[in-house]
Amino acid sequence: MHLTESIKNEISAEWESFEALTVSTLHSGNELLNTINGYLFEHSGKKLRPLLALCAASSLGKGINEDAVTCAAVSEIIHTATLLHDDVVDESDMRRGAATVRSLFSQGASVLMGDYWLSRAVSLLVKVGNMRIMELFSGTIGDLASGEILQMDKAEKLDTTLEDYLEIIRCKTASLFVSSIVSAAMAVGGGERQLEALREYAFHLGLLFQMRDDILDYSDSKTIGKDSDCDIAERKITIPLLCALDNALEEKGKILTLLSGIDVTDAFGEKNRSIIKQIKSFVLENGGIPSAQKKLEELSDNACKSIEILPENNFKGYLCAIPRILISEVCNYVLPNKP
Ligand code: IPE
Ligand code: IPE
Ligand code: MG
Ligand code: MG
Repeated sequence: MHLTESIKNEISAEWESFEALTVSTLHSGNELLNTINGYLFEHSGKKLRPLLALCAASSLGKGINEDAVTCAAVSEIIHTATLLHDDVVDESDMRRGAATVRSLFSQGASVLMGDYWLSRAVSLLVKVGNMRIMELFSGTIGDLASGEILQMDKAEKLDTTLEDYLEIIRCKTASLFVSSIVSAAMAVGGGERQLEALREYAFHLGLLFQMRDDILDYSDSKTIGKDSDCDIAERKITIPLLCALDNALEEKGKILTLLSGIDVTDAFGEKNRSIIKQIKSFVLENGGIPSAQKKLEELSDNACKSIEILPENNFKGYLCAIPRILISEVCNYVLPNKP
C-alpha cells in the first residue's frame, strides 16, 4: 500500500513517537516476555489503526498532540493483543507471514501475552486521563470479546444471518476502528459534529475491513501472510457465503448440511478439505465474491460521505483514499477460477 508509506513520511516525527512509545510501554523486566515482545516487533503488521488515528487527528487541522500519539499506540497494542487471543481461539499457525506465538511458544504464552499487552494499553489510557477516551476503549475491549463469543456460538449453531454477521464484525473489528479514530480526534479537541462524522467513517471502514478479510480468506494466495480457507474450516458463515446463499436460496439446505459435516477438531483433515472445496465452488459459482465486493463498494462510499463536513486538506483525502485502496487489493488477491 504505497499511500500508507507517504502518509507515514508526512507525519514522520509523530510516527516515530508512536513506534517508540509502543516499544517502551511494552518493555518488561521479564526475560521470556521480552523475547516474545521482540518476536512480535520483528513481525509487526500493517499498523493501519494507528495510521488512521493519526490521519483523523491531522484532518482536523490542529496538528497531532502527545495524547493523540498515545491513542494511536493504544489502538495497535489492543489490536495485537486481540490477535494473540484470536490465534488461540482459531488455532492459527501463521500470522503476519510468520509462525504464531501460540505455535512457536505455547497456547498459554499467547493468551498471557495478549493479557499483558491489554494491560499496558490500559496503563497508557490512565496516563491520558480522559474519561471519554477511557470509556471508548473499555467498551471496545468488551466488544472484541463478545464479538468472538457470538461468532463461536453461531459457528456451533450454524444459523448465522446477515444481521448476526454484521453484529459480529461490528464488535470484533469496527468497534476498534471507531475507538482508534475517534479517540485521537478527541485528543486534539475535535468538535462534536466532527467526532460524529469520524465515528460514522470508522464504523463503515471497520465493517469493510473485516468483510475484505473474510473475502481474502477465500483466496488461495499466500500473499495474505496467514492461512486461507480457515473460515469454512471453523464453520464461520461470512460475507462471501452469505451472499452466495442469498443468490441461490434453493441450495441453502444442502450447503448447511455440508457445513455441519465440518469437524472443527481436524481443520484441514481429508474430510474437511473435501467439504471446503465443495463450499468454495458453491460460493464462486453463485457470485458470492462479486456480491461481497459490491458491499465493500457501498461501505467505501458511505465512509467517504460520512466525512464530507471535515475541513478540506490532504489528510481528509487520505482518509477517503484508504477504503478504495483496501478494495483494490482484494481484486488482486482473490482468484475466482481456482476453487
Ligand atoms: C487482522 O487485522 C484482523 C482483522 C480485523 C481482520 P489486520 O489485517 O489489520 O492485521 P495486521 O496487524 O496487519 O497483521
Ligand atoms: C478478526 O477475525 C480477529 C479479530 C478482530 C480479533 P479473524 O479471525 O477473521 O482474523 P484473522 O483472519 O485471524 O486475522
Ligand atoms: Mg482468526
Ligand atoms: Mg480472517
